[in-house]
Amino acid sequence: MDKFKTIKYEVRNGIAILTLNRPEALNALNNDFFQDMEVLLSDIRNDKEVRILIITGKGKAFVAGADISEMVGMDKSMAEKFSRRGQAVFLRLEKLDIPVIAAVNGYALGGGCELAMACDIRIASSKAKFGQPEVSLGLIPGFAGTQRLPRLIGIGNALNLLLTADQISADEAFRIGLVQKLTEPEQLMDEVYKLAEKIISKGPRAVSVIKSVSHIGLRLDFANATKLESREFGLLFGNEGTEGMKAFLEKRKPEW
Ligand code: CAA
Repeated sequence: MDKFKTIKYEVRNGIAILTLNRPEALNALNNDFFQDMEVLLSDIRNDKEVRILIITGKGKAFVAGADISEMVGMDKSMAEKFSRRGQAVFLRLEKLDIPVIAAVNGYALGGGCELAMACDIRIASSKAKFGQPEVSLGLIPGFAGTQRLPRLIGIGNALNLLLTADQISADEAFRIGLVQKLTEPEQLMDEVYKLAEKIISKGPRAVSVIKSVSHIGLRLDFANATKLESREFGLLFGNEGTEGMKAFLEKRKPEW
């Protein structure tokens, strides 16, 4: 029996790929998905072989949002719990000590845009579409979209999307900084692999610390954030950083 109901997961040469695998429902996020993610995120944390995670969707969507057919039967307290569960899973993703890349192959709407935003870097196919359509349903985002979107693209751009429910093209998402790179659809996974390989060739501890200091720092004041940076900078000496510097001076490849 498959371990997961809603996702496929494989690891090759340190690169893990999580594929949302409910194309018939455009990979809409339901409680089964969060259950799968809770298990998978614990597995990944304990698997020292995995150096980077890529998330993508099967079919024409990355994710078309939270599962409306599941949400429609919820009462106030079930809905609040569902929102807290989704937020917690996305926060665990953000806190993984390996980088996470969203390979956005198609629709990234509502909870799908929120999932992409919980990843560290977003690469999109020119076919991708982004948006927060919740307001058209009389809802608001429930997986931290009201918080991550303004932090990523500024409050004006964020409210423009959140209040209108507009779907924007990959080009527009790139222009406003929601997406870091655009590719032709057939090149998406090659480009994402290339990026993943580049990142995992760097100092592994530095990669992990850059991710955590950047995310944590956004929630601290500048003085405390820079103090944290200095502490982590220091910890790389007599360690991976010293090896990297020596390798540079000795004109050889570092041995991490
Ligand atoms: N939840 C449940 N089912 C969904 C879904 C969703 N979010 N999005 C699509 N589906 C289902 C459709 O109901 C349809 O199922 P059936 O074949 O059984 O009818 C199937 O996926 C295919 O979808 P469409 O036929 O609608 O495909 P399309 O190409 O015509 O349209 C689309 C694509 C524009 C993305 C359209 O499906 C759509 O608008 N989906 C809903 C988008 C949305 O509103 N997302 C926000 C959800 S709320 C949320 O995410 C809240 C939160 O933050 C917690």
